[in-house]
Amino acid sequence: KMNTFIAHLMAKMTVDEKIGQLNLVTGGEATTGAAVSTDVENKIKAGRVGGVFSLTTPAKVRKTQEMAVNYSRLHIPLIFGQDVIHGYKTSFPIPLALAASWDMELIKRTARVAATEASADGINWTFSPMVDIARDPRWGRIAEGSGEDAYLGSAIAKIMVQGYQGDDLKKNNTIMACVKHFALYGAAEAGRDYNTTDMSLNRMYNEYLPPYKAAVDAGAGSIMASFNDINGTPATANKWLLTDVLRKQWGFNGFVVSDYTGVSEMTAHGLGNLQHVSGLALKAGMNMDMVSEGFLTTLKKSLAEGKINITDINTACRLILEAKYKLGLFDDPYKYCSEERAKNEILTPDHLRLAREAATQTFVLLKNQNHTLPLKKAGTIAVIGPLGNTRSNMPGTWSVNADLAATPSLLEGLKTVAGDKANITYALGANLLSDATEQKNATMFGREIDRDSRPEQEVIGDAIRLAEKADVVVAALGEGSEMSGESSSRTSIDIPAVQQRLLAALLKTGKPVVLVLFTGRPLAIKWESDNVPAILNVWFGGTQAALAIADVLFGDVNPSGKLPVTFPQNVGQVPIYYSHKNTGRPLPDGHWFTKFRSNYLDVSNEPLYPFGFGLSYTTFTYSGIKLNSANLRPGGSITASVTVTNTGSVEGKETVQLYTRDMEGSITRPVKELKGFQKISLKPGEHKEVTFTITGNDLKFYDAHLKYVAEPGEFKIFVGPNSRNVKESHFTLLGR
Ligand code: IFM
Repeated sequence: KMNTFIAHLMAKMTVDEKIGQLNLVTGGEATTGAAVSTDVENKIKAGRVGGVFSLTTPAKVRKTQEMAVNYSRLHIPLIFGQDVIHGYKTSFPIPLALAASWDMELIKRTARVAATEASADGINWTFSPMVDIARDPRWGRIAEGSGEDAYLGSAIAKIMVQGYQGDDLKKNNTIMACVKHFALYGAAEAGRDYNTTDMSLNRMYNEYLPPYKAAVDAGAGSIMASFNDINGTPATANKWLLTDVLRKQWGFNGFVVSDYTGVSEMTAHGLGNLQHVSGLALKAGMNMDMVSEGFLTTLKKSLAEGKINITDINTACRLILEAKYKLGLFDDPYKYCSEERAKNEILTPDHLRLAREAATQTFVLLKNQNHTLPLKKAGTIAVIGPLGNTRSNMPGTWSVNADLAATPSLLEGLKTVAGDKANITYALGANLLSDATEQKNATMFGREIDRDSRPEQEVIGDAIRLAEKADVVVAALGEGSEMSGESSSRTSIDIPAVQQRLLAALLKTGKPVVLVLFTGRPLAIKWESDNVPAILNVWFGGTQAALAIADVLFGDVNPSGKLPVTFPQNVGQVPIYYSHKNTGRPLPDGHWFTKFRSNYLDVSNEPLYPFGFGLSYTTFTYSGIKLNSANLRPGGSITASVTVTNTGSVEGKETVQLYTRDMEGSITRPVKELKGFQKISLKPGEHKEVTFTITGNDLKFYDAHLKYVAEPGEFKIFVGPNSRNVKESHFTLLGR
């Protein structure tokens, strides 16, 4: 039915109208590049626009949709996109934080709510999930993805797509997903945003491409090409990537959109003028041009000159129309324009409850010496730091629609949860950054963070006097929310120096200090880790982050987050990730430096906090691994079980992690690869047996010829609470 409908429609379309469908313009509410779309209304009425993004509310979307449906010759509806990255008005924790929950059902529920709210406000297409594997914390956009690991990243990619798209895109509360940024955007050289990527095919297939594929397999309706150059060809015009891999190998049948002005940016990449690069992109498999209007202004000329052919245009146009059809826009172009829904389905108490619950599950307890945490709801608690009383910093990067009125600051959240049991005081203590301009750059969309223009010593002095009168200090420090995210790469990944000076002064008071760390990336916090008694990493936790932080600080919720990305000791260790190769001269475990081994003179090879790490207010012990067989037969399976016991005094959740190592690969294989995880809950004294089933499929990888194979031989198997601290066993995968 869809094919007939679209064939019939396309038969009536002129070349200009077909090219119009390939043009995506911005509605102007949030722009992230120098170019901004112009003359939008006239273009829509002339059938020269296929979709609009960054325009919200039923009224505005309806008005814009009417321009297309009532005025354009063929009445083709527009698709409406938006960056709904981690929630909509109800903002959830940033994606890196959500990954730290290791809770797939929870993450799916957040995507479902995001889709419900966005669709109630006129949106039917989200530029999410962002599934770029990232192992370089200098890259600011590490905040927007699921971290360093392909297995965890793939699991999250899949459930995010399911959460957004639901079981039927024809419903009015589901939205189309757009997987981004295809591909390898997270491997930008030196962590500098938009930078070049040069990578072996083997690494791509084994370590970077799996999450995109998982999203495609889950039925994602669209995919966004990345800005970066891949081995000499920008993704935007990379035929191997967009056609050979995506369409031919993976069978993707949705449409591909460029990232912002990715098409015109290829002139800066040095590939030629706008007409030339637009033709390259179209022929490579790019279907929709976001903002640059290279397609709109040059494709007809290229067609006349024989540089592209009409099938290229037809293919792209058909895919865009199919997306609109799948969304049900031809049946009802206004199906997302209900004022009633916008009133009743956004920022509901249920959504806010989920935001609070989700945030509590993402915080990672990095250190808790002498049970500094949880805090008592009693005495005087001094909240100190530039992030202690700022609402604007809570939702985090890419929270364009987040409602700050519904977002308490940390101070407000602590007061709400403690009620009148504790006296909670506050001082700024330090500016976010010492330089005012830098601080302004670390905010976006007009969301400023408080600044005190007095000399630093005076600002710190006020805070120290307040700390001295308190029983405990909660130091709210770290990054402003736009210090990570797009175009926010950093060469230093420390807590800004001015804040470190405040922290050192607070420690000198001798009061117990809890560092509540706001960050969108792994930070190099070696000094803090050595000197501060308790550190709770809260990322950017969304609309209800403050209440959630209070829940965890006061022990109403026991923290259970585990790092989805390695924290280095210093920036010089970057890239550092748990699933590295061994080298021929590995450093023996427990050693720091050995001459002629693979290591550094000045720092050990250890991360500060490994992938998968996170503490709890209780403790867990792991038994050894019990395998039901020493041999895995082709087509068969074996099980690996451990018994986990809660040996502390409070109930807690634990994510039990399974890793393997291929000891006899035809090519070198990582020292550990995550192959499974289970999040369990245990009461004090309770134990549970956790069982993983392993099949040959779990052991497959892309070999030197990019064949996806499981090779017979010995495998090590590891189970533990993180990627470093594991129990070990081994088995043999038998050949035929
Ligand atoms: O979706 C984003 C992308 O992640 C970065 N460039 C702009 C796009 C649309 O806002």
